[in-house]
Amino acid sequence: MVLEITREIESALTPNALRVLEKRYLRRDRNGRITETPEQMFRRVARFVAQAEKQYRPEVEVDTIADEFYRAMASLEFLPNSPTLLNAGTETGQLSSCFVLPVPDSLEETFDAVKYTAMIHKSGGGIGFNVSHIRPTGSAVGEHFDAAGGPVALIHVFAGAADYIRQGGVRRGCNSVVMSVSHPDILHFINAKSNPSLLTNFYNSVSVTDDFMDKVRSGDDYCLIDPNTGRAVGSLNASAVFKRIVDQAWSTGDPGLVFIDRINRDNPTPSLGRLETITGCGEQALLPYESCNLGSINLAAMLKEKGGTLSIDFNKLARLIPIAVRFLDNVIDVNKFPVPVIERTTRLTRKIGLGVMGFADMLIQLGVSYNSTKAITMAEEIMEFISERAKEASYNLALERGVFPAWSGSIYEKRGLPMRNASCTTIAPTGTISIIAGVSSGIEPIFAAVFVRNILDGENLLEINPYFERIARERGFYSRELIEQLVTSNHLHSRKEVPEDVRKIFVTAHRVSPEWHVRIQAAFQRHIDNAVSKTVNFPKSASREDIARVFMMAWEWGLKGITVYRDRSRQSQPLCINEIG
Ligand code: CDP
Repeated sequence: MVLEITREIESALTPNALRVLEKRYLRRDRNGRITETPEQMFRRVARFVAQAEKQYRPEVEVDTIADEFYRAMASLEFLPNSPTLLNAGTETGQLSSCFVLPVPDSLEETFDAVKYTAMIHKSGGGIGFNVSHIRPTGSAVGEHFDAAGGPVALIHVFAGAADYIRQGGVRRGCNSVVMSVSHPDILHFINAKSNPSLLTNFYNSVSVTDDFMDKVRSGDDYCLIDPNTGRAVGSLNASAVFKRIVDQAWSTGDPGLVFIDRINRDNPTPSLGRLETITGCGEQALLPYESCNLGSINLAAMLKEKGGTLSIDFNKLARLIPIAVRFLDNVIDVNKFPVPVIERTTRLTRKIGLGVMGFADMLIQLGVSYNSTKAITMAEEIMEFISERAKEASYNLALERGVFPAWSGSIYEKRGLPMRNASCTTIAPTGTISIIAGVSSGIEPIFAAVFVRNILDGENLLEINPYFERIARERGFYSRELIEQLVTSNHLHSRKEVPEDVRKIFVTAHRVSPEWHVRIQAAFQRHIDNAVSKTVNFPKSASREDIARVFMMAWEWGLKGITVYRDRSRQSQPLCINEIG
């Protein structure tokens, strides 16, 4: 179908963005016909989210706020997470991406969690589970000895429910499962995905303490604790377990690691309990039944030109950040939560996750290589700025609307700092919203200058990085032959007709060394309240020692978690290219 698009966003939306919007986001009538334009979609979302203003400022013109929200989205400078775009102003009304469900050692509550899983997935959210409280395989159940199926069997129950539900009818939900390294079933858990056709859409992570990591270094044993009794039931050698984790991650990319002590050093509400679980794609640690809605600023659109030179437009960022924070805080008030307990828990802390996308595209425009110290400095500078301004915006909202209800006992009470939101910043993967904005995802390097993107149930879309195309045309090395060859082989770095400075700037994910991936992730993490979603790419030829070194480095450099991916270690990759050098 041909979409009517207003001039304002006509030039901004790429053909791929339109394809995704048509296929997934735009409203349809009963016969499946699309009934709104992208402009109307942004208007629907803006109006709905602006309504929250009425409950705080009856005198304010909701339309004025709605216009601000609309402009932020229609300019593709800020986009909320997919569920907000999909469901705002609709019957579903569920607007958050991230949820954590508790999995206690009780059959009744566990099957409640299965039911909630179905409801959350149906609305487009992803879920984090912590299975560390489930009694080990073979424990007694009631009077029956050796009856417990154990946590890994339970993950398959959740996977069965998840397979049955496709999110909002269009995508499958991401699930993150965490198990403590001290659980007696830990070795079974580490191998749970050794058959890669099992538990697809479940990303497993082993939760490790600082004490465990110290013991990996010293080669000491550590205790396995039965969660049922709290007693030590055995011990394992820390470096042997670490090696098992590394082996599996090398062969399948799974499990990752979660650095749980690091996460809890940033827990804004320790009086509500320890954080034990991360959500869907790893960017958010939440308490049981908490949810969080995300939104991302498009950094590729935050530049200004003066005298032919581009630089970061901090004034533009400063204007946008309070609008984004107000938007995300409003979402909590107009959200239709899947179940009352999630509503109550989420409103206690009012966590939001403002982040960025298009970081690599911004660097390219500035002529900075992703794997350079300049990129690290820029990452820190931008994220520190966004984080400070987001906190300031949350502080101002607290003065206007009151502090988050669990503020007493929080780290902010100790500092005497009113805050509307217990946390403000998160780096999401932005898997789909970055396609809508037409920019590189999250803080990832570009995947390739030219590639075929595998999206939406196997449909393939050709993507030429717009900056690459422009530079190639301006500098006279653009040719159909070059594009065709780059589609079939991602060897930009060895193309002699491409000037060396261009090859350096268009460095792709697989040419960035794992250490540089971790350094960039750490630079962002230093200024993020929650966590950073990032994949550390390894070439196919990487060794197990390479992975072990990066896992260690991630812990030492203060990451909250790490996920690695060795090229072609999984059957289906979200992005495909033929050969990677
Ligand atoms: O770009 P978009 O807003 O669609 O999502 P994202 O930033 O790639 O992912 C944000 C969160 O949405 C993830 O951490 C998951 O919790 C959830 N998600 C999911 O459940 N299923 C997907 N297929 C993609 C994302």
